[in-house]
Amino acid sequence: MKTNSYEAIWDRTKWFREARFGAFIHFGIYAIAGRGEWVQSAEKISKEKYRQYFDEFNPDSYDADEWAKVIKEAGMKYAVLTAKHHDGFCLFDSQLTDFKSTNTSCKRDLIKEYIEALRRADLKVGIYYSLLDWDHPDYPAYGDRQHPMRYNEDFKNKSHDFDKYIAYFHGQVKELCTNYGKIDIMWFDFSYWEMKGEAWKATELVKMIRELQPDIIIDNRLGGNMELSHPEIYAGDFDGPEQCIPRDMVVNEQGQSLPWEVCMTLNNSWGYCGMDKAYKLPSFVIKCLVDCVSKNGNLLVNIGPDARGRIPKQSKTILSEVGDWLRDNGESIYGCGASEIENPQWGRFTQKENTLYAHLFNPVLGHINMKGMRDKIQKARVVADGSEVIVTDFWNLDNGVSKMDSPEDVYLAFGYPVANTYDLPDPRGTVIKLELKVNR
Ligand code: GLC
Repeated sequence: MKTNSYEAIWDRTKWFREARFGAFIHFGIYAIAGRGEWVQSAEKISKEKYRQYFDEFNPDSYDADEWAKVIKEAGMKYAVLTAKHHDGFCLFDSQLTDFKSTNTSCKRDLIKEYIEALRRADLKVGIYYSLLDWDHPDYPAYGDRQHPMRYNEDFKNKSHDFDKYIAYFHGQVKELCTNYGKIDIMWFDFSYWEMKGEAWKATELVKMIRELQPDIIIDNRLGGNMELSHPEIYAGDFDGPEQCIPRDMVVNEQGQSLPWEVCMTLNNSWGYCGMDKAYKLPSFVIKCLVDCVSKNGNLLVNIGPDARGRIPKQSKTILSEVGDWLRDNGESIYGCGASEIENPQWGRFTQKENTLYAHLFNPVLGHINMKGMRDKIQKARVVADGSEVIVTDFWNLDNGVSKMDSPEDVYLAFGYPVANTYDLPDPRGTVIKLELKVNR
């Protein structure tokens, strides 16, 4: 079986498709600036000036076990941490650069600590690696799309040898795949312009990775096209839409469902940004998660620890609330995917074999329409407390079925009379478990 065949991808992403919920962690020396991980590019800061953050970096409160605890209690099953972001700073003890955490006053291999803590907590381990590098002298600067020195005339005639950069970055990926035991996800970021695919020597890279880490899954930002019937070897194992949930399931040219994962921020920043207070509500994160699962996707929610290595309090509060919801309703998320039945107008469906989960986020006027589901439902229960949900006819059936609904439909109600409107048992998201009849 080819490593990039549909079957191979489906097979190795099994745990990932069952996990459904993970943590993204953006951490680096940019946390000191506190204006996001793009600060160097946005403010066109020179390498020399940017070094002040390197000289100062000492996340004295970085405690990977504490991070793992927050992630675990949020109900997340895996995490992805930035081993190197676009600024080039490495959180691991690479032999190929001096620009690394072990050379700062903290003197620690933060990736090693993270990986060990995740494993202790039985979480899958993901590594983010930036293809861009604003520190490496052989990465194009002048005229590049986003390099901090893109407009600086002093860089105009500076020569660089991109092959050297490729050797450097492949070398670092090799270190990451060799020195830390099993890595479950390699998350590359990102391709643009002509900087994609073979410009990264992606075939060679992916072959090396799969040799070192046979079970690893890789994202799709090396620049291939997962949707082709014969995708490139580097096309990736899952699609990675950013800050936007696809309208429908993600499929390839043959209409087969592809694994995917939306990444989203909790405020509007990936890297720490103290001024960004635009945090989402826990109920909103829950809704995003359900929306993803209802279309066979995953959700990767970001955490941006501060300069001292602490997870912002607001993030902790949101995540623990989501975790609380998942403790009640997790069976409708983990191991679930898109339903054979089209998503309803009033919410979402997720499904696992014969069990359909109906997710409601707002009260419905009167009883809840289940389109085309007459004689198909064995029983209905609220997942969180096991209580009965009434499966009923249209409330006014005796006077003739309303013209607006079909006789094939059936209705759900939280109480009697069934035509009444009831508050949701859990306003963050109420899940009704529906045992479907086998011969439906
Ligand atoms: C973008 C950004 C980057 C962030 C990533 C997360 O590609 O460049 O800062 O890490 O998205 O998906």
